[in-house]
Amino acid sequence: MSFLSYILPIIKIYLVGLKVLLVQMFSRAFRLPAMPRQDGRVAIVTGGARGIGYEVVRHMAGLGARVIIGGRDEQEGLTAVRRIREEYREAKVEFEQLDLASLQSVRRFVQRFKGRGLPLNILINNAGVMLVPEGRTEDGFEQHLGVNYLGHLLLTWLLLDTLKDCGKRSSCSRVVNVSSSAHRAGRIRLDDLNGSRCYSAHGAYCQSKLALLLFSSRLHDELQDGGFAVTSCAVDPGMVDTALYRHLWSPLRLAQSAVARLLFRTPVEGAATVLYTALSPALEGERGGGYWSNGRREPTSPPTFDPALQLGLREASRRLLGLQ
Ligand SMILES: NC(=O)c1ccc[n+]([C@@H]2O[C@H](COP(=O)([O-])OP(=O)(O)OC[C@H]3O[C@@H](n4cnc5c(N)ncnc54)[C@H](OP(=O)(O)O)[C@@H]3O)[C@@H](O)[C@H]2O)c1
Ligand SMILES: *[C@@H]1O[C@H](CO)[C@@H](O)[C@H](O)[C@H]1NC(C)=O
Ligand SMILES: *[C@@H]1O[C@H](CO)[C@@H](O)[C@H](O)[C@H]1NC(C)=O
Repeated sequence: MSFLSYILPIIKIYLVGLKVLLVQMFSRAFRLPAMPRQDGRVAIVTGGARGIGYEVVRHMAGLGARVIIGGRDEQEGLTAVRRIREEYREAKVEFEQLDLASLQSVRRFVQRFKGRGLPLNILINNAGVMLVPEGRTEDGFEQHLGVNYLGHLLLTWLLLDTLKDCGKRSSCSRVVNVSSSAHRAGRIRLDDLNGSRCYSAHGAYCQSKLALLLFSSRLHDELQDGGFAVTSCAVDPGMVDTALYRHLWSPLRLAQSAVARLLFRTPVEGAATVLYTALSPALEGERGGGYWSNGRREPTSPPTFDPALQLGLREASRRLLGLQ
C-alpha cells in the first residue's frame, strides 16, 4: 500500500508530462498579442529573477509598469534588474528580498512594500521548486508545500487589502498563480499535508500545485460576490526549458536536456499566457478567473471543485499559518 502510494504519483506525473509533450509537439505556442501600456501600474512577481518569471517581469517593465521582483538570491535579482535596464533604459524594475520558505521573510517583504504606500495592481505568484530533496522550510513545512503554496498563500492574504484598495470596476486588480498541469496528478492529503508519513518529492510537487489552484473557483467568486474589484486566475505555462528541472534524477535529466531543445517551450513562450491573464483587457472583471493554458481557458481536475476538500484545505492551511 505505502509502496503503491509512493510509486503511483511518480507514474502519473510522467504520464501527464508525456501527454503535455505530445500536445506541444503538435500545437503551436500561444503568441501574446500586443498588450496595453502599463504606466503608473505596480506589479509584484515572485521568483522573477530567472526563467518564466524573468520574462514576465521584462515584458511588463517594457510596457511601463513598476515591477518588483521578490526573490531569495540578491545577486541573481540585481543581475536581472541590470539586464532589463540595459534593454529598457526607463524601466522601473526593482529587487526585494523575499524567501517564500520563511513566513517571517514574507511578512517583512509585505511590511516594506506597504511602508512605501505604493498601489498594487498585479500579483504574480510564480516562484516554485520542483523535486527538491526532502527538506523543511524555516517554519517546519515540507519544501514544496511551504514554498509553492503556503508562502504564496500568506503573501496573497497579507496583500489582499492593498489589491482591493487599488481595484476599480473598470480595472480590477489581478492575482495570477503559476500552477502546472502536474496538478492533475496531485492528491491533497489533508491528514498529512507535510508528507511526514510517506514522502514522495513527485507527490509533494503535484500536491503543492493542486493546492495553489484549489481556490480558483472560490476566491474569484467570493471577491466578485463581495463586490471587490480583484480577480484571480491560475496558469499552466506548459513544459518550459528552465532551471526548474535541475533536481530531476540524473539519467532523466540527460534525456530531458536532449528533448527540451526540441519539444519544450522557451521561457518567453511560457510567459505568454501568464502575461495574457495578467494584462489582457479581454479578462476584465467577470470575464477573469479560471485556469489557463497556452492562451486558452481549460477545465481543471475534479478535486479542484470538491467543496469539502476546499474547506478542509482552507482550515488546515490557516492552522499551519496561524491565521484566523
Ligand atoms: N518549467 C516548466 O516546465 C514549468 C511547468 C509547469 C509549471 N512551472 C512553474 O513555473 C514557475 C516558474 O518556474 P521556472 O520554470 O521559471 O523555474 P526556475 O527558473 O527554477 O524559476 C523559479 C524561480 O522561483 C524562485 N524561488 C525558488 N524558491 C524560492 C523561495 N524559497 N523564495 C523565493 N523565490 C524562490 C527561484 O529563485 P532562486 O531559487 O534563485 O531563489 C526562481 O527565480 C514555477 O512555479 C514552476 O512550478 C514550470
Ligand atoms: C508539519 O511539520 C512540522 C515540523 O515537523 C510540524 O511542526 C507540524 O505540526 C506539521 N504539520 C502537519 C499538518 O503535519
Ligand atoms: C492563488 O493562490 C492564492 C494563495 O494560495 C489563493 O488565495 C488564490 O485563491 C489562488 N487563486 C486561484 C485562481 O487559484
